[in-house]
Amino acid sequence: MANQLLLVAVFVLGVSAITKKTLVHNHAKTITSNDDYIGCPSNNDFYYNGTINSPFYPYNYPPNDKCYYYISAEPGKVLKISFSHFDLESCCDFVTIYDGPALNSKKLVQIGGPGSNVTTAGTYYTTTRNAVVTFESNPTIQKSGFSMQYESVNNVSPCNRDIFLIVNGLANVGTQANFQKEIDFIANKLTPTWNVGLTKVRVMLNLQSDIDYAIIWSAEDVPTNANVTQEVLHMLDYIPDVTQDNNTDLECLFRYAYDGLDDSKEFDERYGIEQVVIVFVAANANDDQDFNESFEFAHKIRTERDAKLILVGMGPGLDQARLSKLAYASGYAFFSPSYDNLSSLIPQINNAICSGLNSQCGP
Ligand SMILES: *[C@@H]1O[C@H](CO)[C@@H](O)[C@H](O)[C@H]1NC(C)=O
Ligand SMILES: *[C@@H]1O[C@H](CO)[C@@H](O)[C@H](O)[C@H]1NC(C)=O
Ligand SMILES: *[C@@H]1O[C@H](CO)[C@@H](O)[C@H](O)[C@H]1NC(C)=O
Ligand SMILES: *[C@@H]1O[C@H](CO)[C@@H](O)[C@H](O)[C@H]1NC(C)=O
Ligand SMILES: *[C@@H]1O[C@H](CO)[C@@H](O)[C@H](O)[C@H]1NC(C)=O
Ligand SMILES: *[C@@H]1O[C@H](CO)[C@@H](O)[C@H](O)[C@H]1NC(C)=O
Repeated sequence: MANQLLLVAVFVLGVSAITKKTLVHNHAKTITSNDDYIGCPSNNDFYYNGTINSPFYPYNYPPNDKCYYYISAEPGKVLKISFSHFDLESCCDFVTIYDGPALNSKKLVQIGGPGSNVTTAGTYYTTTRNAVVTFESNPTIQKSGFSMQYESVNNVSPCNRDIFLIVNGLANVGTQANFQKEIDFIANKLTPTWNVGLTKVRVMLNLQSDIDYAIIWSAEDVPTNANVTQEVLHMLDYIPDVTQDNNTDLECLFRYAYDGLDDSKEFDERYGIEQVVIVFVAANANDDQDFNESFEFAHKIRTERDAKLILVGMGPGLDQARLSKLAYASGYAFFSPSYDNLSSLIPQINNAICSGLNSQCGP
């Protein structure tokens, strides 16, 4: 008798909570009379790290049940989902993990149940910041259910990011030998330290060859490390003599970075994945106006595109204090006075790619 009363109370609580959740997440749901939400958490938003148990765990879950769990990783991370206990009627009761913030996100896995050949629970990583997990049981046979751990992690090197490289093919690189060293650095040194992939570290490329001209590779054009290396080396074919490109403008690098980050174009952003732009700078601004325009675009990259700008200064004679103002915040600009020594910057660049908001960063 007491048990029955408890069940009814939980049932009512669960329904009111999920009704609210339906509005928040805006997903259609047919509520039938005798199933769903029994023993589900009344607040089904989960953050960062924790454990979620099936209804009444470690006791048996009820028949005809359905629960929804909405999970968010820490900013800049993805979710690792694993199970310390998994005991379901495998034909008919099941857990589904969606890779994203809603039920129409891509299905990562369905463990058990109709149409699934996965019967044992493994460890899963989302490719975005969010996951939706559902649990469903049918009318027959109840078991002890599951205990699921979720954790905010980066599971690729240097971390899960969308990275847009603004490669400098302007005449102010100085010599073709310098340009070759820049290309060698990006193709053979820097990007090989990343796990490139459409669901890992997503890379886009912009080769700036003139004040008003660039060649752009979308993430789909360079889906693997080998593709990135090959296409960056291929830039030498596009620019056989960098000194023939005679403009020395700084602003165009930032303007093209800003334009390229427009997600309606080449940059197909992933939900909840942080965006980073790396701009390779080889000269100071021509004049105050050039610097001001560069600053304007650098600012909009942060405020409008919500991306983090890392500046890599190459070669001698750069005004480091002034150029650093174009980076995302203090500590996001790096300089190598010699083109032979660009590789020494890799640890700092990768650290900046993965670091969170700098305390000195503006709003
Ligand atoms: C969550 O777990 C990760 C990985 O174990 C850890 O680095 C992080 O500090 C944790 N976050 C919180 C808020 O506990
Ligand atoms: C399970 O099903 C998927 C998709 O239908 C298939 O790609 C995979 O090979 C199957 N795995 C096993 C172990 O049968
Ligand atoms: C990536 O590289 C592989 C192997 O060289 C190649 O087959 C594939 O076409 C490349 N993909 C693109 C999009 O260029
Ligand atoms: C760039 O170089 C070309 C060929 O050397 C020359 O005709 C042109 O006037 C130059 N343009 C500028 C803006 O210096
Ligand atoms: C550049 O910006 C500074 C500070 O906003 C301003 O004082 C200066 O007049 C600007 N110069 C040019 C040439 O636009
Ligand atoms: C190269 O970089 C390292 C580390 O920053 C530095 O110690 C070294 O002096 C640099 N060498 C040259 C030739 O610039």
